[in-house]
Amino acid sequence: MDKAVVLVALAAVFSSGNCQYEPTWESIDSRPLPEWYDQAKFGIFIHWGVFSVPSYGSEWFWWYWQGRKLQSYVDFMQKNYPPNFQYQDFAPLFTAEFFNAKQWVDIFSASGAKYIVLTTKHHEGFTLWGSKYSWNWNAVDVGPKRDLVAEVADALRANSNLRLGLYHSLFEWFNPLFRQDAASVFTTNKFPVTKTLPELYEIVTKYHPEILWSDGDGDAPDKYWNSTGFLAWLYNESPVRETVVTNDRWGYGTICKHGGYYTCSDRYNPGHLLKHKWENCMTIDQKSWGYRRDAELKDYLTIEDLIKTLVETVSCGGNLLMNVGPTHDGRIAPIFEERLRQVGQWLAVNGEGIYNSSAWRAQNDTVTPGVWYTCRPNDNIVYAVILQWPDSGYVTLNVPLVVEGKTEVALLGYAQPLKWQLLKPIGLKVFLPQLPYGQMPCSWAWTLRLTGAT
Ligand SMILES: *[C@@H]1O[C@H](CO)[C@@H](O)[C@H](O)[C@H]1NC(C)=O
Ligand SMILES: *[C@@H]1O[C@H](CO)[C@@H](O)[C@H](O)[C@H]1NC(C)=O
Ligand SMILES: *[C@@H]1O[C@H](CO)[C@@H](O)[C@H](O)[C@H]1NC(C)=O
Repeated sequence: MDKAVVLVALAAVFSSGNCQYEPTWESIDSRPLPEWYDQAKFGIFIHWGVFSVPSYGSEWFWWYWQGRKLQSYVDFMQKNYPPNFQYQDFAPLFTAEFFNAKQWVDIFSASGAKYIVLTTKHHEGFTLWGSKYSWNWNAVDVGPKRDLVAEVADALRANSNLRLGLYHSLFEWFNPLFRQDAASVFTTNKFPVTKTLPELYEIVTKYHPEILWSDGDGDAPDKYWNSTGFLAWLYNESPVRETVVTNDRWGYGTICKHGGYYTCSDRYNPGHLLKHKWENCMTIDQKSWGYRRDAELKDYLTIEDLIKTLVETVSCGGNLLMNVGPTHDGRIAPIFEERLRQVGQWLAVNGEGIYNSSAWRAQNDTVTPGVWYTCRPNDNIVYAVILQWPDSGYVTLNVPLVVEGKTEVALLGYAQPLKWQLLKPIGLKVFLPQLPYGQMPCSWAWTLRLTGAT
């Protein structure tokens, strides 16, 4: 056989090899995470559904009202809705009349995010696309009468370079099939076989998401959900097998342990480096993922809080997934829009130290509080983000190894190189420019670029 023939034969073996990943965690976990995800660093999470209609308390509204029967939710319904009003009666009120996917995409692009994750179905079971498996409980049959997932996906691809991620809940609080399986302690699997898995195949083949953000195991093990079986298909055969990324919420006990990147818990922000790629999913409204009409200004994180969280997360090797909850009529409230555009303003100046960066040997400074590091090892560059502008006019960095006459220090967004002094035994003292108020490069956190530092 000549070389070409051998190569062709080998190629055939590998490309027909849709058995590269086996339906075991050992095999699934061995898949390298597609590179784009770590480079992206920042995404937008969008929680939208029938829960956006009452828009009171939490996106867990239905459960808190009729599952847990929390007094505040029971009272809210008694005061504001007719007797016998059912959760299902909210669906026709989910109208989305102001929803303009292109407008959303413009806001997401302006935020500097590189991907979005949209709830296609939360634990209420209502699908934002016209699922064949969610008869009369989906956005095409009831409410907007539009395929909201398709509109977001199309607008995103037509108007941006952002990647599409889809959130999908495995379980549904009140689905009778799920309750039946749960009553059998998950020895039957009617629900995943007739509902969850067909829906997952449906959204992947229809919308080609590059993130599949699974959630809501309902305390059932991954065996019940057939998670490794599904993931083997996703990685071997699906149309997105090359680029798709998933998280770790695939059954009771898998979180922070199996799957793609780790989420560990909501608002996970460990403050130290993790060996495994992870994501901090968090909310601008600290109390809810879904839109809340009862939110007060103090419930929203400030832009300083958000930048701090982004910087800490990226320094520790994570990605940040920042959530907004649109209204039932399809608007992204101006408070969310402002925050997203502010993050984008900051990234326009400081993105060099964020996108495509790596975690450095130290995550934050050992002496000066509020200094977080990232790096580009191939270019011998270390970035130090400082969260407070010091009154003293200088900042001491106690970890970088620098060389006089070789290391250069710059402030991103400021043209002149900065003066600095060697510290003993290691580190440096950087003198910051004294700029008139209003001429600061960007006013929420500042990035020092140390070229020729290790
Ligand atoms: C479960 O996964 C296996 C692969 O391990 C697959 O053959 C089977 O079709 C899956 N079951 C369902 C209901 O999707
Ligand atoms: C990050 O790296 C990728 C791949 O090398 C490249 O395509 C992309 O432009 C880079 N992005 C930035 C912001 O540097
Ligand atoms: C570095 O970050 C960790 C985790 O947030 C914190 O406990 C520690 O105090 C920080 N170091 C300094 C000097 O601020």
